[in-house]
Amino acid sequence: MTEPSRNVELKAHDPDPARTLARALAAGAEERGLLSQRDTYFAVSRGRLKLREEEPGGATLIAYDRPDEGFERISRYRLVPVAEPEPLREALAAASGVRVVVSKHRRLLRWEAVRIHLDEVSELGSFLELEAVAEPGSDLSTERARVAQLRAVLDIRDEALRSGSYSDALMALTPGAEPDPELLALARQAAGRAYAPYSNFAVGAALRTVDGRRYAGANVENAAYPQGQCAEASAIGALVAGGGGQIAEVVVAAPSRALCSPCGGCRQRLREFTADDAPIHLADLERVRHTSTLAELLPLSFGPEHLAA
Ligand code: THU
Repeated sequence: MTEPSRNVELKAHDPDPARTLARALAAGAEERGLLSQRDTYFAVSRGRLKLREEEPGGATLIAYDRPDEGFERISRYRLVPVAEPEPLREALAAASGVRVVVSKHRRLLRWEAVRIHLDEVSELGSFLELEAVAEPGSDLSTERARVAQLRAVLDIRDEALRSGSYSDALMALTPGAEPDPELLALARQAAGRAYAPYSNFAVGAALRTVDGRRYAGANVENAAYPQGQCAEASAIGALVAGGGGQIAEVVVAAPSRALCSPCGGCRQRLREFTADDAPIHLADLERVRHTSTLAELLPLSFGPEHLAA
């Protein structure tokens, strides 16, 4: 198989796109046009697959994964020009299902070899992305340096940085957005296997990583009560043993009448591996009762990047 292309990327919320545009132009960035893009994300088992339909322009099938944690990420991707987007979209939707559709207006600029995206994303707001396209075989140090330099020029603050993707953020906001069906099934299955003889409160949790792996865990209680472990902690243990990575989506399932929301300790445990805007679905055996994000469950949180600062 041929090697995928690579980018060094950074994404941030942009409270003032006009100011960013003025700074970019003052730094010598060139305008490359205004684009309307509609990305259809398909439910695939590895990484992400989206069909991008662009005006002006054409359509492109984009397969990518961005396994790196943190804010400055390495994306590996393959672009395939598509002559007939509509039948391809229908075929892929029929074969694997659509997870979410993201629409945005993009102002594209270029500075040195870095693409600057000023994005107005439907339902999510204004964002800024920097993408440095890597030369084949590059050790990425030049690309990283360019992104860091442009970040300073555009004055992108730490608190504006975003680690998730538009698709996961939008799914978290979409009422009734369905969780990944396999993830939901895994969480429910794990709840069915919980060891909870003391509380009789069975819980299952399942995690999907940004590169498409899924891990599940159940609560494990103990006769010495404080030694009990929550389902989320068990699932995180399975994730780490399976190779670790960043969590893109969480399902917590409990066959109970009360909504089972992660305890405070597990919110912090999830915080270690989960993007702020990753969807967290709370389900019972019949339905998904609530979907929110880690940022909502754990505002003003403390995480690994604070130790590095
Ligand atoms: N529990 C979980 O496993 N996850 C949660 O999100 C909330 C609570 C477990 C811990 C304990 O075994 C039982 O539910 C009752 O608190």
